[in-house]
Amino acid sequence: MPRAAFAALGTFVPDRVVTNEELTRRMETSDAWIQERTGIRERRWVREGTENSDLAFEATKRALDKAGWKASDIEAIIYASLSPDHMFPGDGCFLNAKLGIPGVPALDVRNQCSGFLYGLSVADAWIRAGVYRRVLLVGSEIHSTGLDVSTRGRDVAVIFGDGAGAALLEATDEPGRGVLSVHLHADGRYAKELWTDAPGSKYHPRVQVAHIESGAIYPHMEGQKVFKHAISKMPEVVRAALDRNGLTTKDLKVLVPHQANLRIAQMVQRSLELEDAQVFNNIQKYGNTTAGSIPIALAEAVEERGVKRGDLVGLCAFGAGFTWGSALVRW
Ligand code: COA
Repeated sequence: MPRAAFAALGTFVPDRVVTNEELTRRMETSDAWIQERTGIRERRWVREGTENSDLAFEATKRALDKAGWKASDIEAIIYASLSPDHMFPGDGCFLNAKLGIPGVPALDVRNQCSGFLYGLSVADAWIRAGVYRRVLLVGSEIHSTGLDVSTRGRDVAVIFGDGAGAALLEATDEPGRGVLSVHLHADGRYAKELWTDAPGSKYHPRVQVAHIESGAIYPHMEGQKVFKHAISKMPEVVRAALDRNGLTTKDLKVLVPHQANLRIAQMVQRSLELEDAQVFNNIQKYGNTTAGSIPIALAEAVEERGVKRGDLVGLCAFGAGFTWGSALVRW
């Protein structure tokens, strides 16, 4: 049975750097508070008029160049995002048009910070089943247009950034290579601990002046609850993945955790007793880019940690829903 292997990764972040210092001019916060609580030094924000699918398109072009593929080599698109260009259709279709590949199927994934792992699970299943042999999996986010950048929204606004990562997955028959397993979970009892209420189809019209005035159009987060669940669920699901494959933490070349908060990643590292060299973080530069976070960090980890054929790479995520998951990949 073929498995899904990473043929190439590509990333794209907007060129506009927003430092913590810039945020202090918009809300009551400080560089020291943000760095101490989250590890974030700066993030990227798009310029007005940029579309989520533009970021995904640029990331995809870079991945195609690296893999030496043409857009027409892509047999299916999976697009993970919580911040699509429009209510519908999903950004998979807009990306399909930008890539100039009419007819290629496009699936949209709505699983927030776990979106890339949910997408990876589908891509891997398609490839194992022989449905497609070459799949584009993108995670892309524009948070900056949806944040309350006043003091009221500071707990959320300082965390999130814009960016996209694209992975080209191909069928491999090489023994041992590729995605070993993906493990997914959700617990909807916590759906409103991290969510955006409006616009929503339960409202008529879907967004109202009252929503704008009350801040219901902005993400709301019970930060401490998210933190508490993230630091227990991510190590648990990484251990489950290792156990399933008869591996241990010592076998990991690198673990790339979803970049939610540097303190969360450090606690996951401690809980799994991993060395510093075994965990990759880049939240300092980009903040939390949600569905974009794992592919952006994975691309940098592969370069900076010299990941080579045969190395074991772990991925894990936790986010809104709550949803969480892990994957193990033999590079
Ligand atoms: N700047 C300065 N002060 C801030 C602030 C900011 N940006 N955001 C919140 N505060 C204040 C709060 O108002 C509160 O003030 P008070 O004590 O006067 O009421 C104080 O800081 C402590 O707030 P608290 O929410 O208890 O802080 P915390 O230690 O839990 O840190 C988070 C807040 C958001 C950084 C933290 O909870 C967190 O990272 N949670 C996980 C978030 C996450 O990963 N989300 C993405 C999931 S995918």
